Amino acid sequence: MERTFLMVKPDGVQRNLIGEIVSRFEDKGYQMVGGKLMNISEELAQQHYGEHKERPFFGELVDFITSGPVFAMVWEGENVISTARLMMGATNPKESAPGTIRGDFAVTVSKNIIHGSDSPESASREINLFFKEEELVTYDKSV
Ligand code: CMP
Repeated sequence: MERTFLMVKPDGVQRNLIGEIVSRFEDKGYQMVGGKLMNISEELAQQHYGEHKERPFFGELVDFITSGPVFAMVWEGENVISTARLMMGATNPKESAPGTIRGDFAVTVSKNIIHGSDSPESASREINLFFKEEELVTYDKSV
C-alpha cells in the first residue's frame, strides 16, 4: 500500500487547522499510520528542504518551518501520494482551486499550510527523515 509524508506547517498549526486537515484525508478514505506534533530543528529543516538549497527563498523557508510546531504525518492508501497533492492544491495559493486545502485556507506561497511529498522517492526519503519504523502503526484490514 502506498504511503506519503504530509505536514501541517506552523501557520496551519497556529490557525488550529490540524483537525480540519486530518478530517479531509480521513473522509477521503485514507488512514493515518503516524503522526506527531513537533518542533523542527535547523538541521532537519535543511535536510528536508535540501533540494531547494540554491533557491533565493531557502533561508526564509528554513526560518518559517522552524518558527513553531508542525504536525508531521504518514498517510496510507491507494494513490495517496498524487491524490493528497490534488487535495492540497497548487503550491502557490494564488493558483490553488477552491475546495483544495490551500485554495480554501492560504493566500501566500511561503505560508501555504501544508507540505506533501511529490513522488514515491520523496515520500520514502521524507518518511524516513521524520519517523522511525516503530512510530508507524499497522491496522487490522478486516475491520
Ligand atoms: P512545500 O511543498 O513545503 O515545498 C517547498 C516550499 O517552498 C513550498 O511548499 C512553498 O511554501 C515554498 N516556496 C515556494 N516558492 C516560494 C517563494 N517564491 N517564496 C517563499 N517560499 C516559497
